Amino acid sequence: MTKHKYAVVGTGGRIPMFIDPIAGLYRDTSELVGLCDLSATRRRWHLQRLIREYGIDPIPDYAAEDFDAMLKERRPDTVIVCVPDYLHHDYIVRSLEFGANVISEKPLTIDAEKFADIDAAVRRTGRSVRTTFNYRWAPGASQVRQLIASGAIGTVKHVDFEYMLNTSHGADYFRRWHSYKKFSGGLFVHKATHHFDLINWWIDAIPETVFAMGDLVFYGKENAVARGQEALTRYPRYTGVPESEGDPFRMNLEGDPTLKALYRDAEADSGYLRDENVFRDGITIEDSMSATVRYRTGAMLSYSLNAYCPCEGFRVSISGDAGRLEYAERHAAHIITGDRELKIEPNASRGASLRLQNLFSDPQEIPVHMPESGHGGADPLIQEQIFSANPPPEHLGRNAGHEQGAASLLVGAAANHSIKTGTPVRITDLFNLRPECQRLSQLI
Ligand SMILES: NC(=O)c1ccc[n+]([C@@H]2O[C@H](COP(=O)([O-])OP(=O)(O)OC[C@H]3O[C@@H](n4cnc5c(N)ncnc54)[C@H](O)[C@@H]3O)[C@@H](O)[C@H]2O)c1
Repeated sequence: MTKHKYAVVGTGGRIPMFIDPIAGLYRDTSELVGLCDLSATRRRWHLQRLIREYGIDPIPDYAAEDFDAMLKERRPDTVIVCVPDYLHHDYIVRSLEFGANVISEKPLTIDAEKFADIDAAVRRTGRSVRTTFNYRWAPGASQVRQLIASGAIGTVKHVDFEYMLNTSHGADYFRRWHSYKKFSGGLFVHKATHHFDLINWWIDAIPETVFAMGDLVFYGKENAVARGQEALTRYPRYTGVPESEGDPFRMNLEGDPTLKALYRDAEADSGYLRDENVFRDGITIEDSMSATVRYRTGAMLSYSLNAYCPCEGFRVSISGDAGRLEYAERHAAHIITGDRELKIEPNASRGASLRLQNLFSDPQEIPVHMPESGHGGADPLIQEQIFSANPPPEHLGRNAGHEQGAASLLVGAAANHSIKTGTPVRITDLFNLRPECQRLSQLI
């Protein structure tokens, strides 16, 4: 049997999600043919790991400037793009032009202009782009979709969604490239793309107008000083700084073998500092944000995200003309290690609850199973869908192409415009995503 050939670009913390199933569970049908990254240390660390753990044969690895050479020499059927968000569009377009299909990590890209490049390349080449919205595959999220699609609450009119990131996971976005809007689009794009996608998909609607506010109110030097925590701002990074010991926001790259190998040992060849002080000057993203969104179906959304909470998880209430769903997840926020295993905070409780109440009826509690594995059980299911030769039939529309990827990122991009201008932003003014459609399921 001919194996499907994959090449990857971006071999940092997230890439095991893709290369491990290719080398392991799906090795009979899949083959990794090349790895590309600007850090030789990182790409070779992953390669050696795959050789050791899965017994794959050595394969060539390529520097960032040799990406096109990798395509020519290794001729992948599909390229997996797992670099920082602001680079996705460039590698996506080059892969499509070469003639490969693409799997891109979320967010598909960070603004409307870069999405326009991707859309044009898809049309030009006839190739496809999958956006890996893994949150759709979590069992609880899938139950919510099923209930709404079955008409359990009638026609959806309003959604209220609150997301909480705690001071271990939330802080991690302020230590490195994510903390600069030009690289991540800010949390309205980088993080909220998951949430806007869930909502778009749950209520099967395309967003239309966004009015947003956002600010940096907790991280950054000025905020720490204002709270009387100037002592936390005195060092530019944490590793190798004795003064930072005891700082609750400290990340010690030398305290974890994976972090050390992937980031500390790669500082010399990439210049990438993974552990910058979260209370430094120059951070350009928000840590507190709210948005009001109107959908083409007429439904409304009230959304908030805060990245400095004592607990982690989300709660959502979805109101329809026949009833209401309330869904909540409490996450035992993982301590970021760069490792494939999530290290769970021992004291944090974890769980989910789902409640359905129809008009003039008593509420019903619906049991939700939340597995321990990657992202609440989502990652293994999307891996099966991507890599299996015979993936299980998919009735919930959980596979997303580039247009569904855009429907989510454009909410964040519009929110960023709205923060700047202080006015509501029509998404169609940024990119006219199939103006004749109202439903997300009408998009690729
Ligand atoms: N779906 C999820 O739950 C999830 C979770 C984590 C990350 N992600 C996404 O995965 C992507 C990667 O995130 P990560 O956490 O692995 O980040 P990371 O910083 O750990 O890794 C990024 C890698 O890209 C490489 N890189 C940077 N510039 C490059 C260039 N010009 N050419 C080639 N390689 C380059 C870096 O050297 C690094 O190895 C991001 O888009 C992120 O949003 C998704």
